[in-house]
Amino acid sequence: MTAEDQKWSFVVAANRLPVRRVREGDAAKWVPSPGGLVSAMRPVMSGNPNAVWAGWPGVPGLGAEPFDVDGFQCHPVSVSQGELQLFYEGFSNATLWPLFHDALVPPEYHRTWWDAYRTVNQRYADTVADLAAPGAAVWIHDYHLLLVPGLLRKVRPDLRIGFFLHIPFPARELYIRLPWRTEIIDGLLGADLIGLQTPLGADNFCRAVTRITGIKTTGKTIHHNGRTTQVGAFPIGIDTERIAGLVADPAVQARAVEIRQSLGSPATVLLGVDRLDYTKGIEVRLRAFRELLAERRLSVDDCVLVQIAEPSRSQVTGYAEVRREVEQLVGDVNGNFGVMGRPVVHYLHQSHPIEELVAMYLIADVMLVTPLRDGMNLVAKEYVACRPDNTGVLVLSEFTGAAQELRAAELINPHDIEGLKSAMEAAAHRPSAEAGAAMRTMRRLVRSNTAQRWAERFLARLEASP
Ligand code: G6P
Repeated sequence: MTAEDQKWSFVVAANRLPVRRVREGDAAKWVPSPGGLVSAMRPVMSGNPNAVWAGWPGVPGLGAEPFDVDGFQCHPVSVSQGELQLFYEGFSNATLWPLFHDALVPPEYHRTWWDAYRTVNQRYADTVADLAAPGAAVWIHDYHLLLVPGLLRKVRPDLRIGFFLHIPFPARELYIRLPWRTEIIDGLLGADLIGLQTPLGADNFCRAVTRITGIKTTGKTIHHNGRTTQVGAFPIGIDTERIAGLVADPAVQARAVEIRQSLGSPATVLLGVDRLDYTKGIEVRLRAFRELLAERRLSVDDCVLVQIAEPSRSQVTGYAEVRREVEQLVGDVNGNFGVMGRPVVHYLHQSHPIEELVAMYLIADVMLVTPLRDGMNLVAKEYVACRPDNTGVLVLSEFTGAAQELRAAELINPHDIEGLKSAMEAAAHRPSAEAGAAMRTMRRLVRSNTAQRWAERFLARLEASP
């Protein structure tokens, strides 16, 4: 049997493979990707000879042979440059992403994008149909592949199909704007189990199903065409063990000391870590910070804000604008409040390895997580996992999935700038005893719902589905 003929009893499909291609001198090699999904899937996939991951290798047009990295069996799905523009930048990230994030920027509806989305989803469905052994379990991830469960069900009714949406499912009133709302619901209902990040997401989905198909849901069970689809909330977690290892690593601790010194050893470090995305509310927190400095409620003598903004989707509508706005605000704050050799905002539009991020979490007295909308937000959980001495304050937007669990955080409404300012000011001055109790509670929660447990819980439910 050749590798191509091999059939797998567990198939994962996601837009991206769990690896990325990096240059090493003149050569290129695959390395495991950072990120929540990869660490969540590692225990159930890595080294499992019956598991394979189908996805885009991250390079347009590249349709390499199957390969194995870090114990992950990878099966590349090729996406051409043209498809990338229409399917990924277009329908996935300029139609679905904004619509599912409360239309923070206006979603665009283009038939050519939809056609490409269907084509690429069909390619994924064909690939998975080909890879899966009889009766295999298949787990499809995220908004790029909403049609795959239905397309797959048509040709492989024997499979157990799970789907997990990592981003919010919007309110029904928003969802029904989508010209292809029926096709997408039909696509999703091909799954036996649909997981969302929060109970609200699960409710929104069921309400959309009823509105569009007329099917009444019984609790979170949908009976249709003689089949059953279960819907549930499965909040994703992080790899707490890996983070604990990094927190204890002397090299990471030394780097934390070095970073604090390089910032001028301020009394209070405020930190933001985000992909540069208009959903993340980066400009909101910068505006709040600017006003707090202007009103002398925070002082440049003892406060520094570090904002990491990882480059993301720069070709997609809305991303260049938010970058301009953020960078203009950073310039404005530094121009007005900085002193020679000591900017008050340290802004890095760069990706950082997890070791460097952990060093930053270690020195952050106040963590600012202020999205206008976010499916979960793993940065909030990572920060909590990096505070073994229970110090530090997490300022967290109510509009993140994480806020459903981390109720002990300093919860804020990012649309309410006065409320956000008060929370930031209080956080910067919060006595550590009070902060300690909240952090202890949050640490317990983060430790009890790890990425690994999330994957196990979802797969156990899928296994038990009728
Ligand atoms: C979000 C999505 C993921 C996506 C990630 C990075 O977390 O839910 O599916 O992979 O953003 O975005 P990118 O467009 O670079 O894959």
